[in-house]
Amino acid sequence: MPESDRAQAYEDTPLPIGYGQTISDAYIVTVMTAALNLPPHAHVLEVGTGSGYQAAVLSGLAGTVHSIEIVAPLADRAKTLLASLGMTNVTVRAGDGFLGWPEAAPYDGVIVTAGAAEIPPPLIAQLKPGGTLVMPIGPEWPLEQLLVVRKAADGTLDRCSMGPVMFVPLTGRGERVRNPAEPDNRATAACF
Ligand SMILES: C[S@@+](CC[C@H](N)C(=O)[O-])C[C@H]1O[C@@H](n2cnc3c(N)ncnc32)[C@H](O)[C@@H]1O
Repeated sequence: MPESDRAQAYEDTPLPIGYGQTISDAYIVTVMTAALNLPPHAHVLEVGTGSGYQAAVLSGLAGTVHSIEIVAPLADRAKTLLASLGMTNVTVRAGDGFLGWPEAAPYDGVIVTAGAAEIPPPLIAQLKPGGTLVMPIGPEWPLEQLLVVRKAADGTLDRCSMGPVMFVPLTGRGERVRNPAEPDNRATAACF
């Protein structure tokens, strides 16, 4: 976090990290991480590196973490920071996470920390059977649900909602375009 905001680090609110982006509050990072339900030594993809905090949390829980950030200076800053903390199992690159990171796929867990109308199809394709994807999805900002999507061994998807959330939008190719053929996630059953 920027030096000026560090006193607020554990407040229950997103905080600015520059370039019009935010770091999610620590509570939502915890909820999203737990929802991934990672197996030991998991191979994880994060879309939206931002400050690198979520990636740092995943570094301690997963075997390997690949994280993509569309704002190149944020990607550079997080890469330097995570390396300085000795988190050698995290690889960060700048790019549009809509496309995922196919060279390193498939993943046990995919976590997207920006909201969109639909789950980007490449991210579903790059999820292992038995894997879990966590992402804020909604027909329009700020009507988003935190979706947890599990891919069964036969490739079918089972989805539930952890409740309403409000995230910065996914930009790039995943910018909020509503596909009327997709279900309205406000009607998705609760996870618990
Ligand atoms: C809520 S912030 C992320 C917080 C971050 N996980 C952290 O721990 O600080 C969402 C991030 O997603 C990034 N983002 C938005 N659209 C993206 C895309 N298509 N590909 C990759 N990153 C994207 C934004 O630039 C922003 O940094």
